[in-house]
Amino acid sequence: MTLSPDRLSTVLTGRPFRYYDQVESTNDLAKAWLAEDAPSGAVVIADEQVKGRGRLGRSWQTPPGTAIAMSVILKPTRQQLPTMTQVASLSIAEMLDTLKADDVGIKWPNDVLLKGKKVAGILVEAEWQGDALRGVVIGMGVNVRVDFSGTELENYATSIEHALGLRLDRSELIKVILERITYWNTFSTGERLFNTWKARLTTLQQTVTVETQQGVINGLAEAVTPDGALLVRDDNGQLHTVLAGDIPL
Ligand code: BTN
Repeated sequence: MTLSPDRLSTVLTGRPFRYYDQVESTNDLAKAWLAEDAPSGAVVIADEQVKGRGRLGRSWQTPPGTAIAMSVILKPTRQQLPTMTQVASLSIAEMLDTLKADDVGIKWPNDVLLKGKKVAGILVEAEWQGDALRGVVIGMGVNVRVDFSGTELENYATSIEHALGLRLDRSELIKVILERITYWNTFSTGERLFNTWKARLTTLQQTVTVETQQGVINGLAEAVTPDGALLVRDDNGQLHTVLAGDIPL
């Protein structure tokens, strides 16, 4: 089924949303809406994204008709800010649970994996007004039927329909993700959110290579902290606290 404003207003039942057939980046449009004082929970959705941004300065492709490209606006406290990636990755993982997917995990910090390959990526951007946190934009890209076969990403990326052999309605998936985001953002304690997210991490107790802006760290991923940092013990026994980085698949 195609994405359309009519279909989205049926499934999103009153949630403020803006839908576009084609955008450069839903995160940019959500930031502009936030600057006009969008309410918490508002969402920007696009069928096609031509200048999608990924983490660490990478790009993110969203061809038309194949994926979910959306950005949710939330207004957390400063203290809740580091948990936004936990809310997002867990909500996508739980949407996959509803499809009876049995091999769903989260690769630190927030890549959602299905059968060992990346099925969704998250880019959280905070907007400040001086010292005050105006809000956050949680950008989510979910591969629903992107065809990676024959591409350089074939061994690392997957799509839900291909992995599970299903034909899906993207609007329904969006609805479930947003419901889970509302749940974790509104009704959960930070401790329960952290423990549930941590339990789904595929990274802990694994030997990892973490690429950070300061350089590469090799070692054992021993733990995560409630604000999402990864603790990695290198071969010399030194413990590194990694706040931002990437672990290539
Ligand atoms: C990553 O894994 O590097 C994060 C990818 C995030 C992509 C999403 S798609 C919707 C939103 N708009 C963007 O420009 N990026 C995010």
